[in-house]
Amino acid sequence: MLSKRVIGILTWREGLRFEEPNYLRKLVQTGQKLGAEIYLFSHQDVNVPARKIKGFIPKPNGGWISKWFPWPEVVIDRYRRRVKEYIRLRNSDLFFFANSPFSKKWRVTNLLASDDRVKRWIPETHVYEKGKVRNMLARHGLVYVKPGNGTGGRSILRVKSSGKEYSLSGRDKKQKHHVARVNTVEGVEKWVKTWVGEQGIRDGNFLVQQGLDLGLLPKHVVDVRLLIQKDERGEWEVTGCAARMGKNGSATSNLHGGGRALPFESFMFRRFGEERGELIKQECYQLAFDVANKLEDYFGRMMEFGLDIGVDVNGRAWLIEVNPKPGREVFRQIGDMALYKKAIARPVQFALYLARNQARFLSL
Ligand SMILES: Nc1ncnc2c1ncn2[C@@H]1O[C@H](COP(=O)(O)OP(=O)(O)O)[C@@H](O)[C@H]1O
Ligand SMILES: [Mg+2]
Repeated sequence: MLSKRVIGILTWREGLRFEEPNYLRKLVQTGQKLGAEIYLFSHQDVNVPARKIKGFIPKPNGGWISKWFPWPEVVIDRYRRRVKEYIRLRNSDLFFFANSPFSKKWRVTNLLASDDRVKRWIPETHVYEKGKVRNMLARHGLVYVKPGNGTGGRSILRVKSSGKEYSLSGRDKKQKHHVARVNTVEGVEKWVKTWVGEQGIRDGNFLVQQGLDLGLLPKHVVDVRLLIQKDERGEWEVTGCAARMGKNGSATSNLHGGGRALPFESFMFRRFGEERGELIKQECYQLAFDVANKLEDYFGRMMEFGLDIGVDVNGRAWLIEVNPKPGREVFRQIGDMALYKKAIARPVQFALYLARNQARFLSL
């Protein structure tokens, strides 16, 4: 019998606590169904001299089994914390990774904004510094101030100018909603300065970004989450996309901040008409392929991206954020279980493709 392909999934672990237990459980089970020897491991589970790994697989009825596994042929990196042992592992040449390390928002935005093919989709973005908010407000009626290393819409502030008044709205690092009205631009600068100070963002600066009018529904912002992944032939494919509607009055659409997922087509077709909606979808796909290819040229082999795409009230598409280790929850929320399953299977199929063709990749 042919021996099984061995795939490792690198992730954060403390005791039997994993960062995304439900997703990781499904990822391993999907891999097992596809015939792989597949397991989770963290940085502390690697025995380099013995070339083996103390890995974890799900028990059928909950919980985890831990045992020694052979060295993985391919490793999927799903580690989402910047722990120094993890960084050391990534910088070593111990493993053949399916996906390369990624960079902070600012570097990624800068890179994309300087590319002729993709720059038309990138909102004007600067690092936060004295005078920047005022400067951006002079040119844009709407400005977003957000951390360069944030997640889940935390610490993001929207500043809207309406005549002589400014309204501010945001959610702090604990997802608490804040609003304020300020009469002068000096007042806005002061408010933003306090906000940036209070959010206590560790590494990475705040960014000041051209705001997009995503008010596709009254009182709600709506944007798009698109998942682009490598398939079993190693080619980029758009797995699917969904609209996300933010909580009433919220400046962000993130599901973690109370947002809700909606099917892309029924929402966009109702908002923009079928013909226009179809063109918007095509533009989102084109954006995704161009962005994925550009980022891969720069960072090296990648496996998947979750793109946050803004479609403004005029139907114009913009790239808001690139997530290199994205969730798949939007597909579950819209009830498209086939898509949800596909989104989980693809990383394993791609890792198996890499394992089968590894010799070719290593000799490049
Ligand atoms: N420039 C912007 N214009 C309009 N909405 C924005 C802008 N930047 C962020 N948002 C809203 O905030 C959400 C979160 O922003 P994002 O940059 O994706 O940060 P996070 O890493 O916290 O998800 C977006 O999905 C979008 O709804
Ligand atoms: Mg986001």
